[in-house]
Amino acid sequence: MPQVLTFPRITDPRGSLSFAQDLPFAIKRVYWIFDLSSDAVRGAHAHKQCQRILIAISGSFNAVVDGATFRLSKPWIGLWIKPGEFLDLNDFSGGAACIALASHEYDESDYIRARPTWNNQPSIHAAPPAASRQYADWQYADEWRKEREAMTYFEEWK
Ligand code: TYD
Repeated sequence: MPQVLTFPRITDPRGSLSFAQDLPFAIKRVYWIFDLSSDAVRGAHAHKQCQRILIAISGSFNAVVDGATFRLSKPWIGLWIKPGEFLDLNDFSGGAACIALASHEYDESDYIRARPTWNNQPSIHAAPPAASRQYADWQYADEWRKEREAMTYFEEWK
């Protein structure tokens, strides 16, 4: 289950500042995407091992994870995407930019491009959901994992 992380947000008359520390994994790589046209489609893959936290550092876009849509639009919200979760990014606003904090260095062999077919896709979420999900929300994550482990797709790379 992707998890919504709420970072500290410090606002004063000069503007706002957010930061990420004590993350659930060590960052090995940071990448960012920008100059995106509104009809661009990015992502379209899962990773075997790499975890990522996506942040809409500017503008907004959809992060669709295993069919669940998270509209990312707030620079103090991160979406933590785990191995095996299939990510599509689309519907970019003008000036949208996404920064990704990744647990692994770039490795083409870590990509899973086969799109899974989901029988029971989760419903549409807006980010952040009513109860903002924090790092410690493991129970929710476990439910999602159990559901997905029952699906044959994961046999491909276990
Ligand atoms: P790609 O993974 O297709 O980007 P996205 O998931 O945003 O659609 O990567 C686009 C190109 O950039 C591809 O040639 C691989 C390269 N790339 C790197 O060299 N290093 C990186 O860290 C990333 C994410 C991509």
